Order: sequence, then structure tokens, then C-alpha cells
Amino acid sequence: MAIVVAIDGPSGSGKSSVSRGVARELGLRYLDTGAQYRAMTWWILRNGIDPADSSSIALAAAKPLISSGTDPAAPSITVDGTDVAEEIRSGEVTAAVSKVAAVQAVRDRLIALQRELIARASEQSGGIVAEGRDIADVVYPAAEAKIYLTASPAVRAARRGAELGAAGDSVRTEAELARRDAEDAKTTRPLDAAPGATVVDATELDLEQVIAKVARLVSAAR
Ligand code: C5P
Repeated sequence: MAIVVAIDGPSGSGKSSVSRGVARELGLRYLDTGAQYRAMTWWILRNGIDPADSSSIALAAAKPLISSGTDPAAPSITVDGTDVAEEIRSGEVTAAVSKVAAVQAVRDRLIALQRELIARASEQSGGIVAEGRDIADVVYPAAEAKIYLTASPAVRAARRGAELGAAGDSVRTEAELARRDAEDAKTTRPLDAAPGATVVDATELDLEQVIAKVARLVSAAR
């Protein structure tokens, strides 16, 4: 029987690495919904649309063709056939994504796409690990396993800084994560667990320990 695992949490909580690791370990597909909001934002910026102009964004939201590859060993994201995996991690996209993600037409379109990918993975494979901010409460409330992954702000900033190769400036990184969480909290609930979700606090755990813990919770839910 296929299983859907929802993993939500704030910026920098390690959702992507953990979700990929769990998907690989359990032989499931993997969906990074944040990458889709980033891809939409990349396209908005690329087309000269102001990320603060929600009416123009709403009108344009149906235009780009966003595709997510769900193999956890090699996840991919394209916009109109162009691989944007690297560009969507730029500071420019990161600074604008919360505004674009707040536009309801963008959410409606991407949530429909996410539900399609989840349904396809459930039909064609053992299931999927989907990660984001609103998977357990909005995108797929029927998920068999729901995890809320968090860590202390200092630990999240240190890990994100290391990823960005800017470990020296963790104070700025911490402020940036807090800014994005606060902005996202107007649209989703990145700062608290959805009903029925198990909280996993990764502050004192390394990546392998978190993957093992989440994989155990998923196996128990099966
Ligand atoms: O997870 P990641 O940091 O890549 O997400 C980028 C942004 O996409 C978030 O800051 C948020 O604005 C948006 N997002 C969202 N809903 C999701 C996933 C991401 O609004 N399910």
C-alpha cells in the first residue's frame, strides 16, 4: 500500500536533506514544494514582473510550465524545459519568494500540481515524501505520516550558513531566516505543527539521526 509522508517546518530546519534521506531509505519518491515556489519566483523575476505586484503575478501564474522530478537520488526542477535547480537558490529568489508564494493564484496552481504528483507517486510507486510549509494541513491532510521538523534558530542559521559557505555570518543568516518565517507565517503556518503532526526537534541530532528517527515514525505509521 502506498504511503504519503508530509514533512513541514520553518526555513533552514533541514527538511530537504531529511526528506530526501527518508525517501531514499524507504524507497519512496520525493517532492520539494519550496523548489516549485522558487521556480515560479525565478520566472516572475526573469519576466520583469515586480514581486510586490500581486495582481500582475496572479495574471501570470498560469504561464510557466513547472516540472518537478521526484527521484530522491536526483531530484530536478525545470521551468519551460530549462533546468533552474541552481538559480532558484540565489539570494534574489530567496528574498522575493515569500511575496510570490502569498499570491493565491500561485498557491492554487502549485497545490494542484503537488496533489497530481502525490497521486501519481501513490499509483505508480510505494508513495512519496512531500516537504514544505502546508503539506499536512492544506496540500494533503490525508497523509499517513505527518512530521513537523524544527531546530533552534541558532542551529538552523549555522546549518544554513554552512550550506551557503558563509558560516562566518550566522547572525545575519539567523535574522534572514526569521524574516522569511515571519513573512511566510502570513500565508502558511511554518512556526507550528499541524494537527496530528509529530514534532521532531533536530537541534541536538545530526542528519543521519534525524533521518533514522523520521524513518522509524513513518514505518510505525504504516
Ligand atoms: O523550503 P524553501 O525554503 O525552499 O521554500 C521557499 C519558500 O517557498 C518559502 O519561504 C515559502 O515562502 C514558500 N513555500 C510555501 N509553501 C510551501 C513551500 C514553500 O509557501 N509548501
